[in-house]
Amino acid sequence: MIIIKDPKELQKISLKLRSQGKTVALVPTMGYFHEGHLSLIDTVREKVDTVIVSLFVNPTQFAPGEDLDNYPHDLERDAKLACERGADILFAPEKSKMYYPDHSTWVEVPELAINLCGKSRPEHFRGVTTIVAKLFLTAQPHIAIFGEKDWQQLAIIKRMVRDLNMPVEVIGHPIVREASGLALSSRNVYLSNTEKELAPLIQKGLRNIKDMVDKGESEALTLTSELRSFYQKNIPGSRVDYIEIVDPDKINLLEKVSGPALCAVAIHLGKTRLIDNLLIKV
Ligand code: PAJ
Repeated sequence: MIIIKDPKELQKISLKLRSQGKTVALVPTMGYFHEGHLSLIDTVREKVDTVIVSLFVNPTQFAPGEDLDNYPHDLERDAKLACERGADILFAPEKSKMYYPDHSTWVEVPELAINLCGKSRPEHFRGVTTIVAKLFLTAQPHIAIFGEKDWQQLAIIKRMVRDLNMPVEVIGHPIVREASGLALSSRNVYLSNTEKELAPLIQKGLRNIKDMVDKGESEALTLTSELRSFYQKNIPGSRVDYIEIVDPDKINLLEKVSGPALCAVAIHLGKTRLIDNLLIKV
């Protein structure tokens, strides 16, 4: 595996690979790898000739006061893990190489960013789509893979690719969880021991809601109120950012669960904000 820091160099290599008829996959990340990230690498490793993993803690998707400065970082550890899982290139650019001081071009998908994380983090997805578009242009992948843990992000990226005719196939990957049910996240390192014991209840609550839907409940308000009470009762000290039921593609709020529906939550546990989701109707 080689480590590349310069976007121009990566672009040159990728264009050359493509001209030689080689297929290329990109796994965009912000690093501090866990099995969630690594399983994305495993999945594309089987599909293409060259796997590029990008590691860039993208400042434009963090609002002031969020955890940009404390975001966990260990390039040596990540390089070792990516290499073990068969990545060919680790692209780890400096911030100054990805953004000019007077950067002024943005890619936005505002309609899908109204609800869920877009509501409490209004600039977040503009930062995500802009960096992902830049990464696509730099790495020139045939396919790119994203986790369903960040469902809204995946839906937004699929829409961006569709709307802008980007020649990239976007693949979603199921959420990778601990045996306890807690969705793996780089931010889990912030959790205290007590918080770590309580965090799996986030998924337990989502599964209860799916059971209610399976048994015939279809009122979104009934379902979200039930989940809110469950968290209040069972996860003391937690604070709900949102609990919503949305259309999985359009990310608009649903009043009734009749067709495909996703229940998505963001919960503050101490100083950590955790997100999770479950398709409650397919
Ligand atoms: P990051 O949070 O590092 O996540 C990188 C990729 O790993 C994303 O596609 C995310 O959905 C996926 N992922 C994280 N935890 C997962 C889990 N438990 N199971 C499955 N997949 C998981 O998401 C970002 O970085 C950034 O926003 C990025 C797309 C790189 C743009 O900066």
